[in-house]
Amino acid sequence: MPNELEVTLTDAVIARLADGAEPRFRRIAQSLIRHLHDFVRDVEPTEEEWFEAIKFLTATGQKCDDKRQEFILLSDVLGVSMLVDAVNHRSSGATTETTVLGPFFVHGAPEIENGGDMAAGWPGEPAYVSGRVLSTEGRPLPGALLDLWQSNSEGNYDVQIADTGGKQLRAKLRTDADGCFRFRTILPTSYPVPTDGPVGLILNRMGRHPMRPAHLHFMVSAPGYETVVTHLFVKGDPYLESDVVFGVKDSLVVDFRRSESQAEAQKAGLTAPFYSASYDFVLRPAGAAKQQAARAASDAVQSSVRRQSEKE
Ligand code: BEZ
Ligand code: FE
Repeated sequence: MPNELEVTLTDAVIARLADGAEPRFRRIAQSLIRHLHDFVRDVEPTEEEWFEAIKFLTATGQKCDDKRQEFILLSDVLGVSMLVDAVNHRSSGATTETTVLGPFFVHGAPEIENGGDMAAGWPGEPAYVSGRVLSTEGRPLPGALLDLWQSNSEGNYDVQIADTGGKQLRAKLRTDADGCFRFRTILPTSYPVPTDGPVGLILNRMGRHPMRPAHLHFMVSAPGYETVVTHLFVKGDPYLESDVVFGVKDSLVVDFRRSESQAEAQKAGLTAPFYSASYDFVLRPAGAAKQQAARAASDAVQSSVRRQSEKE
């Protein structure tokens, strides 16, 4: 039989929120308090378990520095990052789907020319990636910016490797007058997210593997359009169905075709055998998502009014 405090405490805590608190903050704080209290009522943690949770969050924070973001990783493996992504990018199907940013994005990647090599000097299987950046009306977007990053053939990002001498396996490039981009790199491989911290411990306790399927990261932007943060995944990867961060969407899985043709490789500035993939990114005008949400809300209100008047 719950005691009185178990029943009344949630409302008492919420009642302490100042009337003058900024409305959005108030809504977030209220919901957080309700869900946390419901969680405790549901699980009824022992005091030892609650302290374990506090120690876990403390260790998660302590693992963070300018190169390591254990909280992003935690949010990723719990599916929270993809849920935040989903509620913020309700695609109408016309735009390129988004996925997690991940903890390894770094500002200030070196600019390379269209067709350049973002993996110069790194061992791996040569790959050539090309495509276009388009608007939702199918108009090519010249001068669109692609920010690219990937791991090396052993599955490590530059920030995970000591002494890489700067930003590696990262690049920025712009589409040409026809909205086209092309670059050379190495074929990405599947890799484990870092498991030497608290997130590794909980993955282990959950009995989950830490693997991400092979992918390239893209942040695609153009003035007046919504930026798309996404990946291209390598078709056939064994972890596509069980990505540790739940980031795979079918529309982002791409065939990296293997070719042994020396002539084809030469055209791409590579040597055979090499892999090639092609993909068009589609951006929607900035503000289109808000308009779409407003239209959906207004449609919902209208159909509820219609239902109500049909009843009467
Ligand atoms: C990544 O793809 O770089 C990544 C995403 C989420 C967690 C860890 C790594
Ligand atoms: Fe990655």
